[in-house]
Amino acid sequence: MPTVLVTGGCGFIGSNFVRHLLATDPGASVVNLDALTYAGNLANLADLTGHPRYTFVKGDITNRDDVRGAMRRGVTDVINFAAESHVDRSIQDSGPFVRTNVIGTQVLLDAAREFKVAKYVQVSTDEVYGSLGATGLFTEETPLHPNSPYSASKAAADLLVMAYQHTFGLHAVVTRCSNNYGPYQFPEKLIPLFVTRLLNDEKVPVYGDGQQVRDWIHVLDHCRGIEAAWRKGASGEVYNFGGKCELTNLALTKTLLAALGKSESLIEYVKDRPGHDRRYAIDCAKAERELGWAPQETFAAGLRDTIAWYQANTAWVGAIKNKEYLAYYEKQYGTH
Ligand code: NAD
Ligand code: TYD
Repeated sequence: MPTVLVTGGCGFIGSNFVRHLLATDPGASVVNLDALTYAGNLANLADLTGHPRYTFVKGDITNRDDVRGAMRRGVTDVINFAAESHVDRSIQDSGPFVRTNVIGTQVLLDAAREFKVAKYVQVSTDEVYGSLGATGLFTEETPLHPNSPYSASKAAADLLVMAYQHTFGLHAVVTRCSNNYGPYQFPEKLIPLFVTRLLNDEKVPVYGDGQQVRDWIHVLDHCRGIEAAWRKGASGEVYNFGGKCELTNLALTKTLLAALGKSESLIEYVKDRPGHDRRYAIDCAKAERELGWAPQETFAAGLRDTIAWYQANTAWVGAIKNKEYLAYYEKQYGTH
């Protein structure tokens, strides 16, 4: 009967994971430790209020007392989703990224040792591998070459996890996934930002020439992969997950415009992101072979459902697009 400490469970992927685990494993309990930063939202798990196997603890993973307090609730396993996760914010100010992503991971690893947890899972990203040219795929053997303060902080955390596994014999695995989409994603990332803007007939800012490539995976496929890595992954191993769905940002933008019946005149080409990675693409054969995992959602159906979710949840979006959000966008794009 595992009791899983999910950190960052009020964010996009963490909230989808908590709901998935509680719904599919009647023996599992979840302790969700979340600092409720701008990206953390209690509304993402409002449906679990009063759930007998779910506990929310407000706390910061960089604070040892907060982490120990959460661990004392009978935690047997740790899955670390908590992070500062947006590349553009890391370019504006990398401080919170080093603090949460690196120091927070170190504090969690120390607690995992102290409380002798069975397994530790680090939710990482394909961005630690850097950028690909027109061909090739990231494998688990691809050297780390992070290019943004965000991906550098994630790579540093991955290395700490592996060092704790090697030095202290902690059972630890690292997962590296491509770009997620789905319900509850904060509208600063491309798909929810563009969908919510287009629903209001606002222009969508395409960086540079829009020819950067990302590999899109539905968040539930990622959650199933994390679960498989936790249950079946070998200690010290890295597992890549991807959706086998490479698209240029411009092609994706045009797909969103078509799905919403909007004119291409709503595309606004803006200044490129500094150091913008050109292409990410994942080889997930190892996860398929060793974990028995494969992406199940098609992009067409997943995107249709995601758009429908944002259309149906305008109150959720409205509550997020608050003063802090608007101030960030003014800093990012100016007023236009
Ligand atoms: P998110 O920004 O939506 O959520 C992050 C959550 O962590 C929020 O609930 C926030 O309140 C919490 N948090 C932040 N700092 C904290 C701290 N110091 N202590 C406790 N909680 C804190 O992020 P996401 O998109 O759900 O990403 C989750 C994880 O998955 C991250 O580690 C990210 O690097 C990784 N990842 C994301 C993607 C993607 O496409 N979104 C892809 C691959 C990997
Ligand atoms: P994003 O969702 O921020 O994810 P990541 O940078 O982690 O891949 O961005 C996805 C792609 O979309 C990336 O190439 C940057 C681009 N992008 C835009 O062109 N305009 C935008 O407003 C945003 C947020 C992203």
